[in-house]
Amino acid sequence: MTSLSLWQQLYSAVSASTLEPLVHPLLTEQGITLYCKRDDLLHPRLSGNKWRKLKYPLRQALTEHAAGILSFGGAYSNHLHALAAAGQALNLPTVGIVRGEASSHNPTLTDVRHWGMKIEFVNRQQYRRRQDSDWLAELAHRYSGYMLLPEGGSCLLALPGVAELWQELPPHVEVVLPVASGGTIAGLLSARPVGAKVRGYAVLKGDPWLAQEIVNLYPAAAQDKHWQLIYEHHGGGYAKCRSGDKQAIAQLATELQLPLEPIYSGKALLGLFKDIAAGQFQRDSTLVFLHTGGLQGARSPSG
Ligand SMILES: Cc1ncc(COP(=O)(O)O)c(C=O)c1O
Repeated sequence: MTSLSLWQQLYSAVSASTLEPLVHPLLTEQGITLYCKRDDLLHPRLSGNKWRKLKYPLRQALTEHAAGILSFGGAYSNHLHALAAAGQALNLPTVGIVRGEASSHNPTLTDVRHWGMKIEFVNRQQYRRRQDSDWLAELAHRYSGYMLLPEGGSCLLALPGVAELWQELPPHVEVVLPVASGGTIAGLLSARPVGAKVRGYAVLKGDPWLAQEIVNLYPAAAQDKHWQLIYEHHGGGYAKCRSGDKQAIAQLATELQLPLEPIYSGKALLGLFKDIAAGQFQRDSTLVFLHTGGLQGARSPSG
């Protein structure tokens, strides 16, 4: 079987995710209808926004007979985890440039190695240079013929895969989602139907540069008045979560019977509930929370 038919097989195996109504006293009190788009259940390994962002870059790499794909991420990166899984499924070599120590061990790294990803560890200082053209040129030279994907897989080619999500949603909804590198929200904006809105919760200290990153990916977003980025709920920065918020996320997960983790889905959903409680939404609003997955990153080091 050719690699492209393997891709086609994977594409066909991932069907639309479910849309589940969420029940909570606050929603009833405020007259809000809230659904969860369960992209976390899309695929056992390529879940959440990962398959959506990766599917077309993967197809392009195969079409162009790339030698492999190289990308960047932290030691718990959901993106590298999904890329390694896809690489294994498609017989495509993968390289992960990981911010961390060579001695790092965790379930994410164990999985990606098991699936054949070659890992190169770099320190924080070097990792900050991940968009510098001279380092990228050096990597392109060393990994000749590889496709280089930015951190989070957020590139132009990622947008159409995310845009397909609208085909699975009812019209006139407001989609709510966590935002980090911006590719997922940019993909949604690139195909936002008339009457729909998008509300992103920055899970890191993104004010003011994150909006610009999104506009860089999708320039027409600069003129679009139907989306917003909420910066107030980053909880101290990327991968940081105050203990009170951690407890509140765990409680919300129990009340909603929804698996959440504190870095993306939990942080954004807690932010949304705080904003609902603060009366920021009109009664009769219909919201869809996009569950972008990431539950693998929340496994304990021993797990
Ligand atoms: C689970 C999860 N949710 C949300 C995001 C944020 O998506 P984006 O980086 O496209 O803004 C990420 C990072 O890619 C992620 O791993």
